[in-house]
Amino acid sequence: MGGSVMQRFHGLLVVAGFIALAVVASLSLMPGPAAVVEGAGGGIESEWEQSGHANRDLAVEDATVDFRQASAAHCGRCHASQGFAVWAEQLQQGNPGNITGPDGKAATVEYLASIGLTAEKVQPIDCQACHTDTFDLRIADSTPMLPSGFAVKAVGDGALCMSCHNSRNGAIAWDAADARRYTAPHHSVQADVIMGKNVYFVDYADAYVSAHAAFTGDSCVTCHMEMGGGHTFQASLDSCATCHGDGYRAEMVQRPIQVLLDETAAAISQRFVTQFAAGVREVGAWDPQTDETRTVAIDGRRIVAVAPTSIHGQMGLEMTLQDGTVLSAQLAQIKGADGKAVVPTSDPIVRAMWNYLMVLWDGSMGVHNPSFVRTVLTATQEALR
Ligand code: HEC
Ligand code: HEC
Ligand code: HEC
Ligand code: HEC
Ligand code: HEC
Repeated sequence: MGGSVMQRFHGLLVVAGFIALAVVASLSLMPGPAAVVEGAGGGIESEWEQSGHANRDLAVEDATVDFRQASAAHCGRCHASQGFAVWAEQLQQGNPGNITGPDGKAATVEYLASIGLTAEKVQPIDCQACHTDTFDLRIADSTPMLPSGFAVKAVGDGALCMSCHNSRNGAIAWDAADARRYTAPHHSVQADVIMGKNVYFVDYADAYVSAHAAFTGDSCVTCHMEMGGGHTFQASLDSCATCHGDGYRAEMVQRPIQVLLDETAAAISQRFVTQFAAGVREVGAWDPQTDETRTVAIDGRRIVAVAPTSIHGQMGLEMTLQDGTVLSAQLAQIKGADGKAVVPTSDPIVRAMWNYLMVLWDGSMGVHNPSFVRTVLTATQEALR
């Protein structure tokens, strides 16, 4: 359907300016829910401004050479308009890795600056990130191989969204006996969840593709734009009834999944407290306010509960002590008397935390792929027993 956007606007392309075009389009050509939202809110531009995609501060922090030097080639793929425009082409040539220079080698700081990944010039996920200058979508229908280790077929305009909204840490071997790392999934796991991929304890193969991805026409775009808030990209919780009939509400999926998620967190906490806490002697305590980490000696027997989280892309725990103090630390920085991490990467807790964070960061509380998420959480609880 990416092509259809192009066709609809072919006759208008001579009209100067992206925004002028958008306003003309929204007034004259666009029936349906998007037009209603625009009528009330004043156009695509102002809808976009309300969305997280317009967050330029995040682009400056995560996707510029000023803050990240050469690793802007990593984060700049999805956190900057200019980076995505370059990377989308590279992706289509079969390379989902970091942005490369014109010579095909790792991009230099000079090259990254020349394409606009600087604090002065960087743009967030703006019109040009998603649309080419002929107004087509940069990616539609199917994706090439993604950084999450799978490609997606026939999901309409949602293919664009999935190119950024994927876990980006390679494929997971579901039956691995050892995670071999403490890496957490990125916040952007929606494609993995809706396609039913990259979890432990469940033999996922291609068995869990959600109908919400495959049979809603445009997948993400159907719920978040067409039946949702247009270019605010917000899904509507009322849209369930449109497809499933009156009386069917998001809560009917979200409430039971929340229960399973809470139970999974409790099982992780219990396993940590009963099997590992007593061995803890020292933690690298991270302060979310200052972003600083300091070494703290503690008697692990004082830890009464933990909650899984991620800290700088690595799995971590928020540990509640007897006196109510909360310490946050990466798993690798929660150490015993031997100076090693108390939880080995082979313990099921590590794989369980991966699954837990996948469901949590997905942000839909099961809606994207209800049966898959239910299966994953019950299998995770079983593995922790
Ligand atoms: C070029 C990469 C990229 C593409 C393409 C992309 N997104 Fe995003 N998206 C992001 C980033 C980065 C954020 C985080 C913004 C933040 O947290 O400030 C985000 C955040 C969101 C959010 C969180 C809510 C919000 O407003 O903060 C939703 C929902 C969303 N995107 C939906 C979509 C949909 C639907 C599509 C496809 C039409 C899409 N995204 C395409 C990068 C992308
Ligand atoms: C494959 C695309 C992709 C890559 C590469 C990527 N991100 Fe993201 N990131 C996203 C998307 C999409 C979101 C928004 C997810 C959501 O809102 O659910 C996001 C969210 C985030 C957030 C959370 C923002 C918030 O508002 O909570 C941070 C921080 C972040 N990314 C940092 C980074 C850093 C640092 C790097 C490089 C080391 C990076 N990302 C690489 C796609 C990516
Ligand atoms: C995150 C990706 C993304 C961003 C950012 C984005 N668009 Fe879109 N745009 C889309 C998608 C996907 C569609 C197709 C929507 C559909 O099928 O309903 C679309 C459709 C359109 C259309 C066709 C009319 C319509 O609503 O379907 C216009 C015009 C348009 N966009 C203009 C803009 C402008 C102007 C901006 C910047 C203010 C912008 N877009 C930013 C993804 C994006
Ligand atoms: C069946 C409809 C549907 C489809 C298809 C769908 N979503 Fe969602 N999505 C939702 C609902 C409902 C929520 C929960 C919103 C809430 O609780 O407010 C949600 C939540 C999210 C969130 C977290 C919201 C936030 O504000 O942080 C992101 C990000 C997101 N979806 C992105 C996507 C992406 C990317 C795709 C495609 C891979 C997708 N969604 C497909 C309905 C859908
Ligand atoms: C654009 C249409 C559309 C929207 C909107 C939509 N769904 Fe669906 N949903 C489908 C289709 C199609 C199926 C597959 C139907 C079938 O299996 O009979 C499905 C299946 C489901 C299933 C069973 C799938 C499974 O994994 O077991 C659940 C549960 C579900 N939807 C919940 C919701 C909720 C909750 C919402 C609102 C947040 C919603 N849907 C919004 C089209 C939609």
